[in-house]
Amino acid sequence: MVTTLAFDVYGTLIDTHGVMTLLEELVGDKAKDFSRTWRDKQLEYSFRKGLMQNYETFAVCTSQALDYTCASYGATLSAEQKKELMAIYRVLPAFDDAKEGLTRLKDTGNRLFAFSNGAADALEILLNNAGIRELFLGVVSVDDIKSFKPNPAVYSHFLRKSGATGGESWLISSNPFDVIGAISAGMKSAWVRRSPEAIFDPWGIEPTITVSSLVELDDKIARS
Ligand code: 2OP
Repeated sequence: MVTTLAFDVYGTLIDTHGVMTLLEELVGDKAKDFSRTWRDKQLEYSFRKGLMQNYETFAVCTSQALDYTCASYGATLSAEQKKELMAIYRVLPAFDDAKEGLTRLKDTGNRLFAFSNGAADALEILLNNAGIRELFLGVVSVDDIKSFKPNPAVYSHFLRKSGATGGESWLISSNPFDVIGAISAGMKSAWVRRSPEAIFDPWGIEPTITVSSLVELDDKIARS
């Protein structure tokens, strides 16, 4: 059986905290908290815009979340500095385990796709810059249907676009809300728990498997 793997991008393949160096210059020792609030607000805005059926791109969510975070930390960044942060967001680095983990899975015959809240053009730039684009058969964006994860419609959209069916398809994500969304939509799912401090939502829906690094996936998926 051929297995189709949908990889979440931001936070799973790509490190959203790759803005830290510039943030440290701009907001000093608040950088770590600032980065976390920025990411949390970005996701909250995507959830809310999805629920309100008032779609704007993930880049808009990111930019509005940056404005909110500046206000919340009392950080008076200039328009130029915000532009610089947004520019870095478009070329964030991949996590160290991404290339090796993806290559192993591709070499063992799996069909790999990137599947993200990001718009397709932003994803192409991001994945190319991180040196991992060529490992994917395709890039599937929620932007096609103007909604966001975890709307069940976006997981169905992935299955249609990738030509897969639920039972043979996996969503690979570090984001528990994404894992729960995919399982609820009939896919299997691997939770990438990079840090022992990461907590899975206690909703009674468990990941099919849990890994601490992308390089463990090949073996664990083959054995599940
Ligand atoms: C993504 O879709 C959820 O950040 C997330 O890439």
